[in-house]
Amino acid sequence: MSGFASDLTHATYESPDIVALYARPDGLQKPEETLLAQLRPSLGSMDMLDIGVGGGRTTRHFARLAHSYLGVDYSAAMIARCKAEFPAFRFAVADARRLELVADESCDFVLFSYNGIDHLDARGRRTALAEMRRVLRPGGLMVFSSHNANYLPAIVDRFRFRVHASLRETLRSFKWSGVFWAKNGLLQYRMPLAAGRVHDGTHSFRSSALYYVRPDVGVAELHRLGMVDIVCAGNESREFVPGDDPRLAHDPNPWIYYVSRKPERA
Ligand SMILES: C[S@@+](CC[C@H](N)C(=O)[O-])C[C@H]1O[C@@H](n2cnc3c(N)ncnc32)[C@H](O)[C@@H]1O
Repeated sequence: MSGFASDLTHATYESPDIVALYARPDGLQKPEETLLAQLRPSLGSMDMLDIGVGGGRTTRHFARLAHSYLGVDYSAAMIARCKAEFPAFRFAVADARRLELVADESCDFVLFSYNGIDHLDARGRRTALAEMRRVLRPGGLMVFSSHNANYLPAIVDRFRFRVHASLRETLRSFKWSGVFWAKNGLLQYRMPLAAGRVHDGTHSFRSSALYYVRPDVGVAELHRLGMVDIVCAGNESREFVPGDDPRLAHDPNPWIYYVSRKPERA
């Protein structure tokens, strides 16, 4: 698909090694397991849109249970892989910021899993969230996950230069610490960060910076979008808590699942 050629992240998601990585038959993350268990009785009547479907990790678990299923991704290589692997389901190349192929209020459940939305800058993120809301029916469910800004000290620590017993490991630490600080030069002055983009080493720095947001700030973003019934769970948790739970502001998990609902028509 044209229009993304200059986007480093998009080029990375088109490359065969990254397609193979996301095509592994991995299981659901813990919050997704909770979600699937809760939705199972009603999925059969739900039209589902799976954005940033990658190699179809979530297709494997959700598609056959939904009333209808459409997986989209802006990587043509990911979509080709999904079509080959799951011929019974519908897939299309589409950017989350421009979901023209999906009609207004035509979905009951929109999923953008595994932090795919974090590849967008703040403006792109707002556009994608607005698109997700647009395609939802009133009462429909929006689910995505996003990197947690509270986890950034652990990322900084991961890239701290360390002397190891082996010269090879020491040189490796020197290299990646250098790359990290070359790309995130002002990060120490921006911390603690409420929301912002960070090069965190994903795909060995073959992607552009990723958006990190503190969970309470992410919840406020959803409120501004007009979403209701917001609940969140850290990626290591099976339990969702209300979006106004004060513990969320300090949640230490690497990433957070956000579940919210488009209001019913008054
Ligand atoms: C981290 S991978 C996750 C893949 C899959 N959802 C999973 O859970 O394994 C992120 C996916 O989002 C896709 N993606 C990133 N930005 C996108 C955008 N703006 N529109 C559509 N897809 C996008 C990438 O091509 C990639 O397949």
